[in-house]
Amino acid sequence: MRNSILLFLLITSCLFGNAQTRPDVFIDSLIRIMTVEEKVGQMSQIDLGVIATGEPCKLKNPQEIDLEKLHLAITKYKIGSVLNVGCGSGTISIENWHKIIGLIQKENTALSRLNIPIIYGIDAVHGVNYTMGGTLFPQQIGQAATWNPDLVEQINAITAYETRASAIPWNFSPVLDLGRQPLWSRFSETYGEDVFLAKAMTKSAITGMQGEDIGSPFKVAACMKHFLGYSMPLSGKDRSPAWIAERELREYFLPTFQQAIISGAKTVMINSGEINGTPVHANYDILTKLLRNELGFKGVAITDWEDIYKLTDLHRVASNRKEAVKMAIMAGIDMSMTPNDLVFNDLLIELVKEGAVPMNRIDQAVSRILTLKKELGLFNKTQYPIATYPEFGSKQHAEISYKAACESLTLLKNNNKALPIENKKEKIFVCGPAANSLNFLNGSWTHTWQGIDTTCNTKNKLTILQALQINFGKEHITFLPGCSTDSLIDLASCLELAKKADKIILCLGEKPGTELPGNIDDLSLSPAQVKLAAALSSLHKPVILVCSFGRPRIIRDVVKGAEAVLYAYLPGDEGGRAIADCISGIVNPSGKLPFTYPGAVNELVHYDHKTMEELATDFSMNGYNPEFDFGYGLSFTSFTYSPMKINKATITGSESIEVSVTVTNNGTRTGKEVVQLYYQDLFASITPSVKKLTEFRKIELMPHESKQVTFVLTAENFSFIGKDCQRITEPGEIELQLSNQKKLIYVR
Ligand code: BGC
Repeated sequence: MRNSILLFLLITSCLFGNAQTRPDVFIDSLIRIMTVEEKVGQMSQIDLGVIATGEPCKLKNPQEIDLEKLHLAITKYKIGSVLNVGCGSGTISIENWHKIIGLIQKENTALSRLNIPIIYGIDAVHGVNYTMGGTLFPQQIGQAATWNPDLVEQINAITAYETRASAIPWNFSPVLDLGRQPLWSRFSETYGEDVFLAKAMTKSAITGMQGEDIGSPFKVAACMKHFLGYSMPLSGKDRSPAWIAERELREYFLPTFQQAIISGAKTVMINSGEINGTPVHANYDILTKLLRNELGFKGVAITDWEDIYKLTDLHRVASNRKEAVKMAIMAGIDMSMTPNDLVFNDLLIELVKEGAVPMNRIDQAVSRILTLKKELGLFNKTQYPIATYPEFGSKQHAEISYKAACESLTLLKNNNKALPIENKKEKIFVCGPAANSLNFLNGSWTHTWQGIDTTCNTKNKLTILQALQINFGKEHITFLPGCSTDSLIDLASCLELAKKADKIILCLGEKPGTELPGNIDDLSLSPAQVKLAAALSSLHKPVILVCSFGRPRIIRDVVKGAEAVLYAYLPGDEGGRAIADCISGIVNPSGKLPFTYPGAVNELVHYDHKTMEELATDFSMNGYNPEFDFGYGLSFTSFTYSPMKINKATITGSESIEVSVTVTNNGTRTGKEVVQLYYQDLFASITPSVKKLTEFRKIELMPHESKQVTFVLTAENFSFIGKDCQRITEPGEIELQLSNQKKLIYVR
């Protein structure tokens, strides 16, 4: 009977419905026969822990379904969605994912009246970090450092493939919060500080993950997160208040989300924090007026973790949970990541029955959720056999991860050509907390939420030390950690070994962590690492510094004592290999910083700052002194730029202008260069930035090869958010900046 109702509705919808052009007959008919309890069930998402054996957050290992709990969730609460691995629990094998999700769907088919498939969601944020043996890529900050949008598209296509291979059709990724607050514990999950670069990566991420049709067995629904303004907490602490004027919100934090919507993102997750005193989960202006009415987003809006309840005890804008549920649903939430209990369902049902939440708001939310399930093809098939995915965790996928890690590596200093180490007979001493750890290369969201647990690390992946031992031969490498992030470890023995070596490779790192547990008080490097670095540089041997940091920890003094600095971000499972290959010269680094590297803990000025921010204490214009600038990164070869050419000096109306330059590789190695075009609006009604990125292209050049790069610009390239919060381009003079050249053009 159940199946025949669905079959009838499906056939009618195929005959008469077209989701793009008119209301979907199948979904409308389904909603018409659903009870309030069934509708609210669709709007509720629980953590695996609620239906698994063991206590929530202390599940049996490996995780397994507790049938009694599952039956209650299906029959009483009619749940529509499940997420995660059980909070605090770790990675699941692909076979077990199929077993767990297969059982959930099977019991749902057997016990639910309408057999609406359950949608499973997961955080696959740098590859399928919750499936054993899956491919792990650099974190988003490293992906941005590649300045290679094609690579980011491939990374997301592989992540989609491996997520679906794990029987999961919904990925809570990408993070589209702009990384303008380096203290923030999730800085590494962003595409960096620049709007233009982050937008380019956003487009690639959504396209790669969703493809043309999310109904494909190899694609998933993306979830752009966390809408809006999450990444700019004033104190730098996760989920603490942000104060962002509407103009700034639109200038810096909205464009990536706008881009994701244009690129077709199917779902959005909401910012757990507050902006200007209003928690975003209770903000109708942001969740409905802006997201729906203005940006035209049609997909599903899901809360972040337990965020409706947080409106009571943590945000204190609702005096009880029922009021909180009403606030959030009426602000525009479609699905509640409840996730540890089902009280939300009871409260929302009561609210609907009392008329406090109108049925049309419920129907709107349910319709969006059912549309998502339909587009994912879940009404036809909830999962495909494991054999459909022969490439899961394959060598080919690992090679893309390796390529991404290589292209992210950013060479920040290279005095006396310290790198690469050409003489393979040299004695090398390797040390530092990141030298022999996969966790320091991957960061958070790696097998477990915080990424600290080592038990589920991917087999046969190399740490920096192991990869160096392969490249240089074990006999040429000595190793001692020297310190953890917290304390020195046998410094005397470490210095003894260092003294006997020709070169020292010091691998500094940042303890994995995200969200609240990842909060720090300032950007200083841990004292133990500073001491180790100082002791090593006092030996007057060439020190090569490798940094595996999620955020830019202050390294001013350490840099002074090093011959070379290779910044690795959080390069993922292939990071060890990529770093060793770069040190030994197999790989020529081509990464460029996607953020401004501060020189001091409080010197948090972005590259696109205003002119006034350049004033120094002596009133000169020398006040902007980052450790390294946005877009900076060296190569083992050198490039020269021909004079920049423009085909005309004035842009009128919708006309375009062509800017071209020829880049030549003057060295003896093949290398990749990122051609970056910036501009300054010389005078404008809103104080203009000293420079802003407006185009870029990554090219590869063989020794002595030249390539011409042409950018086509329109007035839109120079637009900004005006005083009335509308995007405008003002007539006037624009200074184009490319490499060390400047040229004036005019917008009429
Ligand atoms: C994070 C989200 C994540 C969710 C589900 C939250 O704590 O803020 O980014 O998607 O958990 O795991």
